[in-house]
Amino acid sequence: MKILGIVGSPRKGSSTDLLVDMILKGAVSRGAAVEKINISDLNLAFCTGCMECRQTGICRVTKEDSDDDLTRIIDKIAEADGLVLASPVYIRHVPGQFKNLFDRLVSQIIITPGKNPPEIKCRIPGKRNSVVLATCGNPDIKMAAETLEFLKNSAFICGNGGNIVSELAVGGLMLPCQINADERRLLEYASNFNIPEPVVDNMMKQYKSVKEQAYQSGQKLALMEK
Ligand SMILES: Cc1cc2nc3c(=O)[nH]c(=O)nc-3n(C[C@H](O)[C@H](O)[C@H](O)COP(=O)(O)O)c2cc1C
Repeated sequence: MKILGIVGSPRKGSSTDLLVDMILKGAVSRGAAVEKINISDLNLAFCTGCMECRQTGICRVTKEDSDDDLTRIIDKIAEADGLVLASPVYIRHVPGQFKNLFDRLVSQIIITPGKNPPEIKCRIPGKRNSVVLATCGNPDIKMAAETLEFLKNSAFICGNGGNIVSELAVGGLMLPCQINADERRLLEYASNFNIPEPVVDNMMKQYKSVKEQAYQSGQKLALMEK
């Protein structure tokens, strides 16, 4: 069992990144091999909308730029038995860099017309279950709804109809790696933003519980039948 995590946050070591580490740790505890890709490490030009890929399954940009990472990502998805797609909310969606990855992956999608709803298939062989995760600055996780929807849809397509094993959303995250912040740092943050002290206590409890949930999601993903 191999699990591939793709982190959509451009800041490495961020809360999203750390939560993916927890999910992958959970998967390792159940015998999975894991790999993580950070969006900021990828060399991916923008989709130009040429639509050549609809016929060939090959993105024209990859043919013109041998350093482009799309083929590498497609190969890694193909090798994986499970996926973790994780992203911060940027203006109610995923960051542009991460969205571009899925724009480029349109080369791997086949839409068969004539069916209602049209049949959507992925050219990347194999079925994969997924865990999806969104983080946002707003304490109300409703702010992450559209982002989660996008991640679930992308996971469903890249996973060739595999199941979404769990979806996680965490709100109120603004500081770098806030999910791992100690009490002193959270109290300083709270005083800067006039957040009452008891809220900090709740934050610590919430982060502990979310990290446990992330770990358990990884365990579930590693154990679930494809
Ligand atoms: C450009 C930008 C846009 C953002 N837009 C939203 C938003 O629409 N709603 C929200 O709740 N948080 C928003 N945020 C806050 C991030 O979602 C939040 O800080 C997230 O936890 C960052 O994750 P990271 O630390 O893992 O990168 C935005 C942050 C940035 C930098």
